[in-house]
Amino acid sequence: MIASAPGKIILFGEHAVVYSRHALVSAINLRCRVEVKKSDGFRIISPLGVTTLDFKVHPYVSYSIKRFCELKEIKGAEIRIESDIPIASGLGSSSAVTVATIKAMNEEFNIGLSEEDVFEMARKVEIDVQGRGSGIDPFISTFGGSWIFPKRKKVDLCLDLFVLKLWERSTKEMVEKVALLRQKYGEIVERIFDAIDCITLRASECRIEEFDELIKMNQSLLRALGVSSQQIDELVARLEKEGFIVKITGAGGGGCLYGVFTGKKPQGSFLVRTNAEGVKIEDS
Ligand code: PMV
Repeated sequence: MIASAPGKIILFGEHAVVYSRHALVSAINLRCRVEVKKSDGFRIISPLGVTTLDFKVHPYVSYSIKRFCELKEIKGAEIRIESDIPIASGLGSSSAVTVATIKAMNEEFNIGLSEEDVFEMARKVEIDVQGRGSGIDPFISTFGGSWIFPKRKKVDLCLDLFVLKLWERSTKEMVEKVALLRQKYGEIVERIFDAIDCITLRASECRIEEFDELIKMNQSLLRALGVSSQQIDELVARLEKEGFIVKITGAGGGGCLYGVFTGKKPQGSFLVRTNAEGVKIEDS
């Protein structure tokens, strides 16, 4: 059985969403495909290597199987992974592989999980691996479309965006960095989260002509949270001089920058379209 799930882009609200504020997020037209076949023993085959259950090389897939086996005892499975989504870049590759694995396992072993169950299991896997998180990635990978999260309000946001991939980094480390800043400067950081929340809610009205200004404001606040860097700040300023307004998407510290595509894109960037379909079974 083959299932595929989309990556995602957080347009506004990352980090603040970990502390119960809103984020605006959309599924993108880059997908991860996972094939599951019944077998004796476990084998995971991906561009990262070929392993059995391995919580270091394939943490998301291994925890997905561990969680799945709490529902049904199975002898084994061969799991083959292929993905268009760059890894460790804030575009939701980890959740896409988690959600697609659970969905394909569900179909292959005929368990009858609903989409909501798939999301709940993927959410547990995210916590197993990362320890903390808002659940935004497994949510959007499961349900697709564009949403104000965690309110679960659907918005109609069909946009072409350019994405500039920087370097890989760990979401966990960036989330911990913000947690430390919040411990030290509680009141200040809470107000930064509130300001980000206002930006997100304003953006959810989908007046695209306001997006560049909102992107600029949100980027400044991410900088205030310490998840930008001198290198990123310089790049943001250089792109602005060239006429491109960008912000970090995802945890920051690297990952990706995005901006609204209006016919011209920065050198080295690629285009994505928002509002993609959620997890689904593919024809084999
Ligand atoms: O994993 P990333 O880079 O897409 O970051 C997820 C967004 C955060 O708000 C930083 C964390 C979370 O769980 O919401």
